[in-house]
Amino acid sequence: MIASHPAPNLPEEDQLFRLLRQLDRTPEASQRVTAEALGISLGRLNAWLRAAAEAGLVNISDRPGPDRRQRFAYALTLRGASEKSRLADRFLARKLAEYDALHAELTGTTSGLVPIKHRTELMQNNLAPIPELYVSYDSAQKLKAEAADLTSHDLTARQICDLELLMNGGFNPLKGFLSEADYDGVVENMRLADGTLWPMPITLDVTEKFAETVEIGQDIALRDQEGVILATMTVTDKWVPNKAREAEKVFGADDLAHPAVNYLHNQAGAVYLGGPVTGIQQPVHYDFRARRDTPNELRAYFRKVGWRKIVAFQTRNPLHRAHQELTFRAAKEAQANLLIHPVVGMTKPGDVDHFTRVRCYEAVLDKYPASTTTMSLLNLAMRMAGPREAVWHGLIRKNHGCTHMIVGRDHAGPGKNSAGQDFYGPYDAQELFAAHAAEIGIEMVDFKHMVFVQEKAQYYPANEVPEGDTVLDISGTELRRRLAEGLEIPEWFSFPEVVTELRKTRPPRSNQGFTVFFTGLSGSGKSTIANALMVKLMEMGGRPVTLLDGDVVRKHLSSELGFSKEHRDINIKRIGYVASEITKNGGIAICAPIAPYTATRRAVREMIEAYGAFLEVHVATALEECERRDRKGLYKLAREGKIKEFTGISDPYEEPKNPELRVETEGTDVDNCAHQVILKLESMGLIAAS
Ligand code: PPS
Repeated sequence: MIASHPAPNLPEEDQLFRLLRQLDRTPEASQRVTAEALGISLGRLNAWLRAAAEAGLVNISDRPGPDRRQRFAYALTLRGASEKSRLADRFLARKLAEYDALHAELTGTTSGLVPIKHRTELMQNNLAPIPELYVSYDSAQKLKAEAADLTSHDLTARQICDLELLMNGGFNPLKGFLSEADYDGVVENMRLADGTLWPMPITLDVTEKFAETVEIGQDIALRDQEGVILATMTVTDKWVPNKAREAEKVFGADDLAHPAVNYLHNQAGAVYLGGPVTGIQQPVHYDFRARRDTPNELRAYFRKVGWRKIVAFQTRNPLHRAHQELTFRAAKEAQANLLIHPVVGMTKPGDVDHFTRVRCYEAVLDKYPASTTTMSLLNLAMRMAGPREAVWHGLIRKNHGCTHMIVGRDHAGPGKNSAGQDFYGPYDAQELFAAHAAEIGIEMVDFKHMVFVQEKAQYYPANEVPEGDTVLDISGTELRRRLAEGLEIPEWFSFPEVVTELRKTRPPRSNQGFTVFFTGLSGSGKSTIANALMVKLMEMGGRPVTLLDGDVVRKHLSSELGFSKEHRDINIKRIGYVASEITKNGGIAICAPIAPYTATRRAVREMIEAYGAFLEVHVATALEECERRDRKGLYKLAREGKIKEFTGISDPYEEPKNPELRVETEGTDVDNCAHQVILKLESMGLIAAS
């Protein structure tokens, strides 16, 4: 052991530390420069170097080249590097003890910083800086220039969220996108290949086409959607994942009703790339900049304000009174300060957008005592993975300096599966968190569902309601209904400021935009009914109406596209995009393409439901009837093989399983079909009943 038997001429510890640090930082420097940096004579430096070499800390080798004054090169040996790190810890431990003593002298209490015994404990301290993957500013400039020649991958919105948390330490200890071995471990048993707990596969999915351009060992540039380089990645792994297995193991079922499973099968690329990431710059955010913090910024804030115990509240919903009560209780129970830590990256499709939510949070923040509570926005892309997600959230919160986290009922729940049942039990997340709490490194504050007790005029956990008292509760679905129909939202449920914000974004349905999406075989009558519907809606007035008919769209928006699956998907997504913009801006979009694929129709639904209602109408005319009508003569040509990939004849049509409405055109006139749609719109509250 070097410290207990120092070689005779080795300098004392502090000086040895400075020498090793100097050699590590500037291995190329001449002896003269090194001696100057250490403030010692050349002779003394020589003596120290010889002693360090004798102790196996430094390697001395001949330096090639003509400079006679610079004949030797010095490099730290592995032993030297670990001695340097040991001495750094001792140095920090001493400084910490000095700081603690000073703190005690000035305030009469200890600083609360955990004394350092060795480096891992230092890193577990919730207030110590956490490693990031960013390089220095100068290196970043150099890397940016060099990366111009690298193969570029344009990151998806979800990958940008993941990358940000990888780079800023939010996903510590990950150093990049998962390798295949780490991925296998995470999927199978929530552990990286080295055994570390990590429940969520953080993978870089790419298309097969892109994967073919990348070799193992190659560096690639990771760019945002505007082409700005955020990082480079050295590709160490490339593989085709078994997505069904990933869905089963990570999300509990290979069921497309789960948003992350749907994403996995219908949006994520077929190939995964893994490898370490070098961070160049943070993704750019233009909104709520002052409210976004990296893990190190939050840790520094907690240090500055002297918070030692911090309980995090994860949320993807607006805060109402029940949440405030729950967070108050949690902070009291843990005797901790409170961090409201909402997710603003990606949440469940259909959630209230984060702009509205942050305005709501800011209104509620005023109702907390200022010195006890703070709020910070987390650019996380949630997966809605319930129990595994809770463990993941715990690790992320630990990285952000928290000591506790609230886990309530149905944490990060994805809703119902395709059989209409919950994917996870209401308290599964609490159980899994509890089983791993020690390893996660933060404590769980678990809560039952909070309900309002009328007689006491206050909130209680559902299991603590005094017997015989009246419980009042408004579910998320009921709240959405009340907003949609412009009904009262009682004061006991939420704060007036929050309700005002929500009403601004979610006006009553009869004032919102919406999309009617007809789907059916060619010649089924989609366009005719759509035209009749348009005229009826225009007669009613109030909102602008746009018809995006299949044939018309193909003349203008999609004139270059054919009828392969790929082209049909592009066509439908374009229609979906335009319809979502119309819906967002309060108009009515009527679409009437064939749209033969379920997954694509679902993608369009998600795009639109972010802004307003989506009404899928299946025009269910049988193929035989369409062929009998054959208004455009296309079926005949398709049967003769003169038109290829014709829907229903030589190309598939996947019938919608649960459309909002199915209309039969055989034996029903067009006016009546259009009227059925009007009645449905009325029943959904989208148009006022006359
Ligand atoms: S898709 O699948 O939704 O992209 O199709 P869509 O944009 O609605 O275009 C369908 C219209 O194009 C004509 N057409 C064909 N349809 C299906 N398959 C093939 N191969 C094909 N070739 C041309 C046809 O007139 C469709 O119009 P509608 O109004 O549906 O009859």
